[in-house]
Amino acid sequence: MAEQVEIDGIRLSLSSPDVSEGEWIGQQEILKQLLACWLVVDKLDLPLAPRLVGMPGIGKTTLGMAGARARKQELYIYQCTADTRPEDLLVTPVLAQSGTIAYHASPLVTAMIRGGICILDEGNRMNEKSWASLAPLLDHRRYVESMVAGISIKAHANFRCAVTMNEDESTFEVPDYILSRLQPTLQVGFPNRQDELAILKYHLPFVEEQMLDLTVEFLQAAHELKLDFSTRDGINVLRYAVKRLFQDPQHPINRDVAWREALLKCLGEDALDLQNLAARKRRSMGGEASPMGLGDFFFSPDDPLHPDHDVDDDDDDDDDDSRDK
Ligand SMILES: Nc1ncnc2c1ncn2[C@@H]1O[C@H](COP(=O)(O)OP(=O)(O)OP(=O)(O)O)[C@@H](O)[C@H]1O
Ligand SMILES: [Mg+2]
Repeated sequence: MAEQVEIDGIRLSLSSPDVSEGEWIGQQEILKQLLACWLVVDKLDLPLAPRLVGMPGIGKTTLGMAGARARKQELYIYQCTADTRPEDLLVTPVLAQSGTIAYHASPLVTAMIRGGICILDEGNRMNEKSWASLAPLLDHRRYVESMVAGISIKAHANFRCAVTMNEDESTFEVPDYILSRLQPTLQVGFPNRQDELAILKYHLPFVEEQMLDLTVEFLQAAHELKLDFSTRDGINVLRYAVKRLFQDPQHPINRDVAWREALLKCLGEDALDLQNLAARKRRSMGGEASPMGLGDFFFSPDDPLHPDHDVDDDDDDDDDDSRDK
């Protein structure tokens, strides 16, 4: 049975912590920054609740989980959605077998009570009303008020939290008074080649080196071109490719063929020609931001001096070699 605590005469049953495993590989600086946010250096000091931002699949949740593990505290993850209500976030009433009302503490409130760490995952998906219920928790007051249970719940001194946020447009605008309580912003960026290879190896130790290399080359070329392919995409491509190779040992398919098929099936046709995809993306972004850039006044579109010239031209910068792989 779930552990229970009593607050002001109200019995709350607690959520269970997350016990999944997983290491944070490479990029030690951002892990240190997260751990710094959670330090308390003086009696008058308070921990910070940072925002972990970055594109989907880049490692935001993994980073938050690794931070909790590094501090050896219990970890609770709350998955925020567009229809998360304040009571879902705090305390929900449930009908007990005896016919009476019982109260269930969310992962967030459980972390507050037990002195654990809560990751509010995908926080930008949550609506303003739910965010409003967290305003006192996220400043010096460090408590929440559960309307449903009629109690105020104070956070344990060891309670810490962080919020992960995606940079995609299909989400709510988090109000400014909340954003000002969620500081600093820690931007999770792409891993470098060495770290990305180590991450793939960590998750897929059974995959042969050649396939790992192929995938890292692809991901690094995509990162260089600022395309939205993530480490998670690489992991999925490899998982599918090895399954295809493993499937029929009697008639093995060619490694490159399996890998290309995986790329196509996981990431779509666009992934087969990164240069072309990058050029189209830059063109459409330029089109949105300024229908006519300053360069258009000074240079004709195919003038080599036009600022956008190398968009259509394959051999810009120093990434020529990425195309040949
Ligand atoms: N530095 C890292 N160390 C270990 N694994 C990593 C690292 N970076 C990314 N990964 C792996 O990449 C995958 C995606 O990471 P994660 O789920 O944390 O991304 P996310 O940014 O939270 O994505 P989303 O925005 O979709 O929630 C996971 O399998 C994760 O373990
Ligand atoms: Mg995540």
